[in-house]
Amino acid sequence: MTTTVPITLTINGALHQAFVQPWHTLLHVLRDVLHFTGTKRGCNQGICGACSVIVDGEVVRGCLSIAANCQGRTITTIEGLANGNTLSNVQQAFLELGAVQCGYCMPGMIIAATALLKRTPKPTEEEIREGLSGNLCRCSGYVKVVRAVQVASERGTS
Ligand code: FES
Ligand code: FES
Repeated sequence: MTTTVPITLTINGALHQAFVQPWHTLLHVLRDVLHFTGTKRGCNQGICGACSVIVDGEVVRGCLSIAANCQGRTITTIEGLANGNTLSNVQQAFLELGAVQCGYCMPGMIIAATALLKRTPKPTEEEIREGLSGNLCRCSGYVKVVRAVQVASERGTS
């Protein structure tokens, strides 16, 4: 017999409830239960960073996080960064700099970059590379990604 667990999450400023199995990951609940499909499933084993979301201010890998452990926590996904039709500074910089190739890694990259600029508003190039080191891009477009984070930093993080 399996037992579902009720959880309540604040996602992008709104309360969401779900009934989850004890082994369900946060990634599964976000994508497959609550339909926040901007968060991507890449490796599903903690390596690529495509599933990155911000939980109570920290970047976490959704595929390694047990959803039931996130009860009551505050989560930001890629869908929560824009203000209506206005992209965040980081999103806008990635767009303008052409940092996006196939795009699959981008939600995780942008989440990681947003968190980096929150804690370090003016990072060095080395700090940017370190901050994004957990996010892999199969298209290998890291140069423009780093430049986009620099541009977003110059403009501010809001
Ligand atoms: S899908 Fe989670 S780290 Fe790759
Ligand atoms: S843009 Fe294709 S995986 Fe990064």
